[in-house]
Amino acid sequence: MRALTILLLAICCTSQAARILGIFPYNSHSHFNMYEVLMKELVNRGHHVTVLSHFPQKTKYINYIDLSVNGSLPAVTNNVSMELISSLNSVTSFFDIIGDTLNMCEKVLQHPNTKKLTSSKEEYDLILIEVFGAECFFGLLHKIKAPSVSLTSSVMLPWANARFGNPDNPAYIPNYFLPLTYRMTFSQRLINTMFKVWLCAMFYYYSDYRSQQIARRYLGEELPGLSDLARNSSLILVNSHFSINQPRPLVPGVVEVGGLHIKSPGKIEEGLEKFLNESKHGLIYFSLGSMVRSETMSATTLEAILDAFSELPQNFLWKVDGDLLPRLPSNVRAGKWLPQLEILAHPNTLAFITHGGLMGLQEALYFGVPMVGIPLFSDQELNIQNLSPKVAVSLDYKTLTKASLLQALNTVINDQSRVHSSERNDEPYIEPYAELRGEH
Ligand SMILES: *[C@@H]1O[C@H](CO)[C@@H](O)[C@H](O)[C@H]1NC(C)=O
Ligand SMILES: *[C@@H]1O[C@H](CO)[C@@H](O)[C@H](O)[C@H]1NC(C)=O
Ligand SMILES: *[C@@H]1O[C@H](CO)[C@@H](O)[C@H](O)[C@H]1NC(C)=O
Ligand SMILES: *[C@@H]1O[C@H](CO)[C@@H](O)[C@H](O)[C@H]1NC(C)=O
Repeated sequence: MRALTILLLAICCTSQAARILGIFPYNSHSHFNMYEVLMKELVNRGHHVTVLSHFPQKTKYINYIDLSVNGSLPAVTNNVSMELISSLNSVTSFFDIIGDTLNMCEKVLQHPNTKKLTSSKEEYDLILIEVFGAECFFGLLHKIKAPSVSLTSSVMLPWANARFGNPDNPAYIPNYFLPLTYRMTFSQRLINTMFKVWLCAMFYYYSDYRSQQIARRYLGEELPGLSDLARNSSLILVNSHFSINQPRPLVPGVVEVGGLHIKSPGKIEEGLEKFLNESKHGLIYFSLGSMVRSETMSATTLEAILDAFSELPQNFLWKVDGDLLPRLPSNVRAGKWLPQLEILAHPNTLAFITHGGLMGLQEALYFGVPMVGIPLFSDQELNIQNLSPKVAVSLDYKTLTKASLLQALNTVINDQSRVHSSERNDEPYIEPYAELRGEH
């Protein structure tokens, strides 16, 4: 009898399952990170998901069907050099995204798995679709009719505000591409306003005109305007939170889900865990994110960084190809890939040297790890500015020296107000820096 009741309960509860389609055409792993966590959680809650992305599951995940478009675009994961980064600024960053967008539109729409999606008779109850540089793919919503929810792994994007009728006043809301905070001077507000007008004009030209042309080629001449399709989205989930980004008015259709991607830490490989456990003076984790190859920094900068590291008693973990470094001091370990979340969650981790990518920054905040920010491109400078000076110390990559790095690290390590874990307050590592602190 009990077994029958359980069986009946099981049947009644699984009947709520929805078929959900995720469309994530942008080929950056950090963006996908957030969408993957969300899609898997939907599966865990009984739904069936189909995911169009560049990052298929490595091992089979039940009720999660991959429509992989991997290979349609050049990889950016661990494939961006510092030379390329140095050529970027607010304006070129924007054109870079636009260029990527148009290329992505063409390459992903012609992929066999995208065609399979548009020609299949499969029906969906809901579509989740990325808005970051993915205008074109709103065209798919004309082929596959279902209510849609937009997603972005960044803060609210300038061009998405109008779609949801969300207020975006440039007098106090800094543009995504500008390193300004809400405490703007008059001239900064003026620049912010002019930039917003220019950006929206450029965006409409490229989105409504260029993307539209490409999308019509693949999805049919009768395709309605992409921005009309985008405007039909019921909701947008944005990766911001008023506590770390700025407080701003939001209409009910714009929902902040900052930090949604943060999972509970998993197991660390034993050798690495031992290194973390044995870092009695604490550990400092250094990563410039999933895209940038740290080893492409100039020889002088690499030397400055290694010199600074070798002068400190802490251990260091650096996401870098160690074979390509000039040398590796005994307190530094390198890895081409490191379990970032688990490292940040480890009680011995004292600080995080970061490029200021939103995902890693949210993880560090979640585990209470203070940061030294070396912003490189896109929204990174804005992200660091938002946490500066209390949670993060900002360093300029172009003028980075051994002394400036040491000073920033010492500030972050020694300032008691930044140390999160109460049990750390008794550790002797605080003391040896007294005279260094006096120097600066
Ligand atoms: C994408 O495909 C390439 C081979 O073309 C492979 O090396 C890579 O691991 C794949 N990436 C993913 C995330 O599956
Ligand atoms: C790395 O980027 C370069 C330049 O965009 C590209 O030509 C190359 O194919 C990329 N590498 C991979 C493995 O996709
Ligand atoms: C807008 O979305 C609804 C589902 O939420 C759909 O029925 C309708 O056809 C869509 N409108 C357009 C113009 O695609
Ligand atoms: C590291 O320390 C934790 C907590 O003390 C312990 O549970 C774990 O077994 C240690 N791991 C290694 C490899 O020493």
